[in-house]
Amino acid sequence: MPVSIKTPQEIEKMRVAGRLTSEVLDYIGPFVKAGVTTNELDRLCHELIVNVQHAIPAPLNYAPGGHTPYPKSICTSINHQICHGVPGEKALKNGDIVNIDITVIKDGYHGDSSRMYYVGEPSIQARRLCETTYQAMWRGINKVKAGAYLGDIGYAIQSFVEPLGYSVVREFCGHGIGAKFHEEPQVLHYGRPKTGLKLEAGMVFTIEPMINAGKKEIKQLNDGWTVVTRDHSLSAQYEHTILVTDTGFEVLTVSAGTPPPP
Ligand code: MF3
Ligand code: CO
Ligand code: CO
Repeated sequence: MPVSIKTPQEIEKMRVAGRLTSEVLDYIGPFVKAGVTTNELDRLCHELIVNVQHAIPAPLNYAPGGHTPYPKSICTSINHQICHGVPGEKALKNGDIVNIDITVIKDGYHGDSSRMYYVGEPSIQARRLCETTYQAMWRGINKVKAGAYLGDIGYAIQSFVEPLGYSVVREFCGHGIGAKFHEEPQVLHYGRPKTGLKLEAGMVFTIEPMINAGKKEIKQLNDGWTVVTRDHSLSAQYEHTILVTDTGFEVLTVSAGTPPPP
């Protein structure tokens, strides 16, 4: 399947889905505190998405090939968890860093975005990792423009974080998105300039680098979903859904509380 070019009507629906996604991330921030369980965060987001936004939490029962259906409505990945952390009964504690990843379906179209949250005061190292990951995502976003290449995005991210001693996770990547959660193309967070797919206006995909403080190797937990760093080093991730335009890009996952570009 080739990479789809979204119509103006589809793009308008994706702006709505993207805004709702980002509003969930805004809403949950004040609840991310020591003592709260990730199940409680999941419940709060689920209720907002279903009862207020009249939308669908895409992760719930999501079952791509070979996976057991995902059991919750959001992903919560804590400290050395890289991605797809499954909410549970464990309480957050002071100093934890947590990625919350939200995907909402509205009127048949998806928005997908994640941010890092600090529980109380993070360590200097944890804060630096999160801030660097945010900058890395933006270095990638700033490469997006019709005529640019996917490899430009990957290179911008990799060449920024590796000299700082961090590593880029290889097994998971950004992705095309639209009527389906995960579409073509795959958006790698590493690579070489002027390689890979040439971008065209109307393409929509996510950029969502997973950056480890230590080595890049991962381990899959027995729950079938949660992915952690093999060396147990901290990991961070930010994600936006991006529309390619002739002059650059439009971030679709925006709301009142979206952090400004660095
Ligand atoms: N939101 C994730 C992404 O950015 C995918 C989560 S799949 C789930 O692609 F099933 F774990 F929710
Ligand atoms: Co995504
Ligand atoms: Co996501």
